[in-house]
Amino acid sequence: MNGRILIVDDERSMCELLETALRLRDFESRWYTSADEALLTLDDGNFDAVLTDLKMPGTTGLQLCEKIVANRPDIPVVVMTAFGSLETAVSAIRVGAFDFVTKPIEMDLLAIVLQRAVTHRRLQDQVKLLSERVEQNGRFGEMIGDSPAMQDLYDQLTRVADSESSILITGESGTGKELVARSLHRRSRRAKGPFVPVNCAAIPETLLESELFGHAKGAFTDARSERKGLFQQAEHGTLFLDEIGEMPQSMQAKLLRALEENKLRPVGGDKEVEFDVRVLSATNRDLETAIEDGRFREDLYFRLNVIQLELPPLRARGTDVLLIAQHYVTNLAARAGKAITGVSEKAAEKLLAYSWPGNVRELRNVIERAVALTRYEQLAVEDLPEKVRNYRSDQVVVGGHDPAELLPMEEVERRYIQHVLNTVGGNKTTASRILGLDRKTLYRKLSSDGAADK
Ligand SMILES: Nc1ncnc2c1ncn2[C@@H]1O[C@H](COP(=O)(O)OP(=O)(O)OP(=O)(O)O)[C@@H](O)[C@H]1O
Ligand SMILES: [Mg+2]
Repeated sequence: MNGRILIVDDERSMCELLETALRLRDFESRWYTSADEALLTLDDGNFDAVLTDLKMPGTTGLQLCEKIVANRPDIPVVVMTAFGSLETAVSAIRVGAFDFVTKPIEMDLLAIVLQRAVTHRRLQDQVKLLSERVEQNGRFGEMIGDSPAMQDLYDQLTRVADSESSILITGESGTGKELVARSLHRRSRRAKGPFVPVNCAAIPETLLESELFGHAKGAFTDARSERKGLFQQAEHGTLFLDEIGEMPQSMQAKLLRALEENKLRPVGGDKEVEFDVRVLSATNRDLETAIEDGRFREDLYFRLNVIQLELPPLRARGTDVLLIAQHYVTNLAARAGKAITGVSEKAAEKLLAYSWPGNVRELRNVIERAVALTRYEQLAVEDLPEKVRNYRSDQVVVGGHDPAELLPMEEVERRYIQHVLNTVGGNKTTASRILGLDRKTLYRKLSSDGAADK
């Protein structure tokens, strides 16, 4: 069945004609010869669309249209208008009719128009379902997702937001580490204070110390006046040290001392200054390996990593991909002034199958591009980049007998871990139990090179 249509026309014979024509084209319908009668059944008739004549005695089609738009905006209205009275059709569109057809009615064309209206309605339903899922418990601040992996994270966030401990946020690039840092700040007792992010990788080594600790007047050639550092700017608030793994060794030692003593000494200054700052840090690198290689101080690691929050990669978040995609479609389409309501079923399958090495940031870029390209109301497979369209799923763990298809052990292991994670809906605890690995090892294996360039 294509859909359920409510027909309204003051001429009984016209109603009967439409009903028959639509039944032949697989639509179910009910008809009424007055708008008022029709309105009474609108709420419990479970209709996908309304098809109404415009000129009727009593309540006109235009008024009916207005009432439906006001009370049941989810039900699209298609109006029928006599040939030569296009202005009335235009006024109907203005009050919110979905489309119009002219009399004498071409039944095949009518069926196409109604089909479009029904599809539109179903799409809106889908979007509503997704948004409801997000509203219920599928979000934490700006973070979207209701997979077990994310709910785990939200639980941890709620528990640690109020503590004063240092937190190290880890996770692949684009998983939302900065978003987590911001929401931790907003939920902490320091919410009224400043949130100051610093990207340790973006500041040259020679400047980092004075950026963080400030400098005294005359400390170096350009220091014409005293300047407060980011630590002092974050007073009573939160300092977010992003990409902490990139911090030069010399600075690591100074940072450690400052954190231990809650005091810092501005560059070229002779007095120590106390500070009251909560420090959050983030890294997408494996700091433990950096420690083994002697690139990161172990004592600083322990100081920063009182609590660790691990962001799951997007590919371990199941259908969160669709929730986040919908969120971006809605926002970006509105910004682009395009009437795009969502993602087609086929395109959704592709989004779910892809491995998202660049995580949420990559998903956002893919959606942004698709929104710009698409000619449809739903993003289609053809709007997705080649790598997403043609992504070969990793489901097959051990290939066939063709020597060219045989895989290195590491890749088989990675695919199998991925498969287990997907199967248990991203629940790390369950996955690591099945695999007989601890969670840390599980994540190290997942985030090692193989996962990143697949
Ligand atoms: N769960 C989520 N729901 C909605 N948007 C998200 C989510 N997670 C991340 N984002 C968005 O994805 C983008 C990347 O997030 P963010 O900058 O926090 O990642 P990151 O982990 O800090 O990445 P990097 O390691 O590259 O710095 C941002 O635009 C952010 O708003
Ligand atoms: Mg970041």
